[in-house]
Amino acid sequence: MNIIEDINRLRKEKNAVILAHYYTNPEIQDIADFLGDSLALSQYAQQTRAKMIVFAGVYFMAETAKILNSEKTVLIPDPASGCSLADSCKAEDFVRFKQQYSDYKVVTYINCSAAIKTMSDIVCTSSNAVKIVESFPKNEKIIFAPDKNLGNYINNLTARNMLLWDGSCHVHDALKAETVIKLKAQNPEAKLIAHPECQQVILQFADFIGSTTHLLNYTQKSEAKTFIVATETGILHQMQALSPHKKFIIAESEDFCECNDCKYMKLNTLEKIKDCLLYGKNEVNLDPDTIEKAKKPIIKMLELS
Ligand code: 13P
Ligand code: SF4
Repeated sequence: MNIIEDINRLRKEKNAVILAHYYTNPEIQDIADFLGDSLALSQYAQQTRAKMIVFAGVYFMAETAKILNSEKTVLIPDPASGCSLADSCKAEDFVRFKQQYSDYKVVTYINCSAAIKTMSDIVCTSSNAVKIVESFPKNEKIIFAPDKNLGNYINNLTARNMLLWDGSCHVHDALKAETVIKLKAQNPEAKLIAHPECQQVILQFADFIGSTTHLLNYTQKSEAKTFIVATETGILHQMQALSPHKKFIIAESEDFCECNDCKYMKLNTLEKIKDCLLYGKNEVNLDPDTIEKAKKPIIKMLELS
């Protein structure tokens, strides 16, 4: 209790807001000023009047908040909270790749570094990816990076043939078709819902595919009573809170492996949030040139969203 009182006092004193992604631990979701998926978090970061943003998520999300608010102090509870998907696309490799396809437009999933964003024509999130890609003419040549699973999903939905960077998320990519087949057989009445970072072998069985916010909305509106959830475990906290009488079964890649926990998101703790506020620890800084170049494709996305 004391730590929550300290956080509440400090956020007032410092004129700070705490932003949290749905994949963080429940106790962090419960104290956040704003909780959302990556699109909603960037929209909130663009609009907040607070002087300081404490971003309980992963590094690329805090970086995006800094890009949108270069005059504000952006702090991250644990600077080691990276993202395996963002890490699968290194700037030096992407530069070389892009050079081979100079007549291609570049659409990047927000799960990438600021350096990759500077090389992009537009950014997207899983909430708006289809809309963003569809904003290009049908015959436009497009590179989509870094998530090959999301890219493949959009290619199928939009009948396009975007060139896909070979990246993926260690949590979603590990889910196996046998797991969801088994869970569906054990719970025939359940709806299978999946994040588009999962492989096509999972998505083909899904009753609904969407970003974390879209999955959450679906569980609220659906008349089904049971859901098999193929994404990170953190989202279950809100699903259960908003639909207390429904049952949610996480599709783990192996029995009781906890491998659906994003180890980076789970690095966020209340203690670290308090330390950020108290000592101004772990400030996210980017050089002005990177901010200027990375901002353009993010703003383009926000204008289209
Ligand atoms: P959302 O866009 O659904 O928030 O997804 C972010 C993410 O990191 C999924 O792994
Ligand atoms: Fe990155 Fe995967 Fe974690 Fe999402 S779940 S933040 S894509 S490592």
